Parts: sequence; structure tokens; C-alpha cells
Amino acid sequence: MAGGGSGRPTAVSLFTGCGGSDAGLIEAGFDIVLANDICRYAREFYLANLPETDYKLADITTLSSFPEADLLVGCYPCQGFSEGGVRKANRGINYLYQQFDRVLRLIRPKAFIVENVQGLTRSNFRHLLNNQIIRFRLARYRVQTRLLNAADYGVPQERRRVFLVGIRSDIDAQYEFPEATHGSGEGQHPYVTIRDAIEGLPDWPEGEYCDDPFHWYYMSRNRRRGWDELSKTIVSTARHMLLHPISPTLSRVGPDCWEWTTDEPRRRFSFREASALQGLSAEAVFPDTDRMHSETAGLRMKYRVVGNAVPPPLFRAVAGTLPEIW
Ligand SMILES: C[S@@+](CC[C@H](N)C(=O)[O-])C[C@H]1O[C@@H](n2cnc3c(N)ncnc32)[C@H](O)[C@@H]1O
Repeated sequence: MAGGGSGRPTAVSLFTGCGGSDAGLIEAGFDIVLANDICRYAREFYLANLPETDYKLADITTLSSFPEADLLVGCYPCQGFSEGGVRKANRGINYLYQQFDRVLRLIRPKAFIVENVQGLTRSNFRHLLNNQIIRFRLARYRVQTRLLNAADYGVPQERRRVFLVGIRSDIDAQYEFPEATHGSGEGQHPYVTIRDAIEGLPDWPEGEYCDDPFHWYYMSRNRRRGWDELSKTIVSTARHMLLHPISPTLSRVGPDCWEWTTDEPRRRFSFREASALQGLSAEAVFPDTDRMHSETAGLRMKYRVVGNAVPPPLFRAVAGTLPEIW
């Protein structure tokens, strides 16, 4: 076992964000010996909820030393190939996986886990995914990839993400991705719904949701799901946040054009509801900071870190089937 001292296997976490993936790792039995991100508010949120972690605020390209660890995890940014972002294969941000590769070769952990958006499997980005797999194989890891849906692991949300899991090639053990625990199959739990996640929270939580006008782009698709359904994918942009089911339904009136069916009041999910739909702790603390010079700026930061997070139950499931190689 590397580092630690607690007897639990250890992990270095890169592109840590507010700690969705780390919360899942901790539940799966790991100690985080180092976390890192460039986003100040992500770090503040993380430390308000998991104060014990050594979390370095820095651009990953500037860090050169890392503690030993059994596991390396990283969910590098995805703006370049996410469904909700501008899709350009040549954006520099798409190449941060090379930093993950650099740290992988420095630490040589027994295993690694990477999470990224489904867009990476599209034909115009497939070469980037292939390049990652090749690099990690050249670093002498046996790599497996799988597209997983968070809903299948008890998250009340359809969120499809690509996972890459590697085991160091000198270790005689195989990785198996976890079976879906939720769904309509035999022996599975029913999907967790929006109602299960947020019923009972205040209907109109003042100051906790974005109340910008619903502009034409917002109305270009149906952003509402009912109480007893899974949520669509939670995004990180305040203005594009999905509708709370208290809002009226929408009907399609033309290509990329939807309208409200009644004049009832409507609103987006609050950042706290979005957090619950991401499977983050219901008690998560959202610190306010000096840099929140306006309510809007604060809301934007809170929505962003929540929308960027990996749902802890999903990460826990993926880490939970790692072989006992520590
Ligand atoms: C998809 S999010 C990670 C989410 C996180 N794993 C979680 O579960 O909460 C990607 C993160 O990469 C961070 N990031 C982007 N560029 C970076 C850089 N150059 N160095 C360090 N972190 C960076 C972003 O701030 C963002 O928090």
C-alpha cells in the first residue's frame, strides 16, 4: 500500500473540481492524499465539505511533484467535446489528458480511473480517445473503456460518461466494470426519480436558482421532465439549467422551438436541487466567498461546480469493482 498510513488504499486526484468523484472514491474505501484543480471555488466547496484533504490550487501544468499512491484518478475537462459546449477537436483544453499521462508515468500507481463525456466517442473525437488509450498502454497499463449511464447506478439522472480504467501490466488482476444496479431488469432496483431526490425541498428557494429570462435558445428544446422521471443531464451553465417539474409542460411548435402550455409560474432547478440530482450529499455546504460580488456571480459558480461533478454513486460503483491489489 502506498503512502497513507490509515491502512486504506490511497489515491491522487487530478481535475478534482468540487469533489464528486472523490466523494465516491472515499465511499469506496480510498484515502485522497492529494487533490488538485485550477478553480478556486471548486476548492473552497471541496474543503467546506471534506476539510482533511491536501488540495492544491494550481494549473496542473505547473505541478511537478506528487505523493505516492495506489490509484490515480482524473476527469479532465470536456468543453471541447461535450454535448453542451462548442465542439472543436483542436482546442488546447482537449489535450489535458497528456498531463494525466505525465503524472501517471511519474507516480506509477497500481491502477487509474478516468472519466469523460460521451462526446469523446463521436467520430470526430474518437482519435483523441484512441490516443489516450495508446498512451496509457505505452505507459504499461492494461486499459478498458466503457460508456456508463449514471442512472444505472442509482443517480436520478441520465448522464452517459466514458470511463477508462487501467491496471498496471505487471499486476496479475483483471478489472470488470460494475453491473447496473438500477433499471427494469430482474433483481435491479427501480430507477431513482426526480421526486425521490428533491421532493420536500422548498418550492421557491429564493436566491438559489437562476431566474434569467428563458431566451430563444433555452426554448429550442424540451428542458423539462416530470416528477416521476429521471432527470436529463445536469449541465454546468446557470442559464441552461433544466426546469423544475413545478413548471408547466412544454410543447413543440416547430423545429427547435418549444412553448409553455400554460402561464403557470416556472423556474430552473436550484443549485441545491441540481446537486441532489447529481447524487452529491444532501447536506453539501455551499460556501459564500468574497469574490461573489453579486448574487448572479455566486449562483454561476455554484451551478458550475455542481454541473461539472461526477456523480459520487457512479464513481463509487466504478472504483468499487477494482480488484484487491493494494
Ligand atoms: C469535469 S471537471 C472535474 C469534476 C470533478 N472530478 C468532480 O467530480 O467534481 C474538470 C475540472 O478540470 C479543471 N481544470 C481545467 N483546466 C485545468 C488545469 N489546467 N489544471 C488543473 N485543473 C484544471 C476544471 O477547473 C474542472 O474543475
